[in-house]
Amino acid sequence: MTSLPERLKSETRPLHEQTEQLLYSESLRSGTLSASQYQHLLRTHLAYHQALETAIDQHPDFFEQYRPDSRRKTPWLLADIGTTLTDTTLPANEFTNWSPFALLGAAYVGEGSMLGGKTVWHLLQQSSALASLLPTARFYKGYGADTGQQWRDFGAFLTQQGADKPDEVVEGARQAFLTYQNLFRWTAGK
Ligand code: HEM
Repeated sequence: MTSLPERLKSETRPLHEQTEQLLYSESLRSGTLSASQYQHLLRTHLAYHQALETAIDQHPDFFEQYRPDSRRKTPWLLADIGTTLTDTTLPANEFTNWSPFALLGAAYVGEGSMLGGKTVWHLLQQSSALASLLPTARFYKGYGADTGQQWRDFGAFLTQQGADKPDEVVEGARQAFLTYQNLFRWTAGK
């Protein structure tokens, strides 16, 4: 039988590719990402993670072993975005009314993006327009040396907590990728 982590990986692969493509993948790979495109990426991630962290905090029992405090990305993103953020930038209610199982799928998308973030961190260094921003950047460094351990711990949590409703978790992950794409469009020019 296919495990839930394997299902998530294979069943959301096309959405991963689509999302990666949308989020300035070509500029990243050619080293031409501008400072404003970089800021747009940060606003997209902030909109996603802030809404997800808020929603996860509504289900403390279900997410206890997820150790939410060890996985918060909002403080990193706020620090990276600095003073350019206004209160009106964020839709805080993206995940309101999602079940904990669907949120588990959204958490898979957020945690998985930390793996891709390692690749992105190296690609960012190739854009000369970002040279002054990267020395103090935090979000794309992610969990650093703890990345592998955090991912394995998340995999164990996912397998255990998702066992009762795997289809709901997979559908949550699919919707979460689409949410990322919508937030990218929503935060453009904010
Ligand atoms: C240019 C942008 C991106 C690149 C180059 C990229 C690249 C990658 C790579 C190389 C991996 C596999 C890492 C490994 O197995 O060690 C990965 C995994 C993953 N990425 Fe991305 N990624 C990008 C953006 C994103 C975004 C924006 C999201 C979320 C919306 C995302 C979600 C995921 C997920 C969920 C996984 C885990 C797949 C699994 O093993 O189940 N990625 N990414």
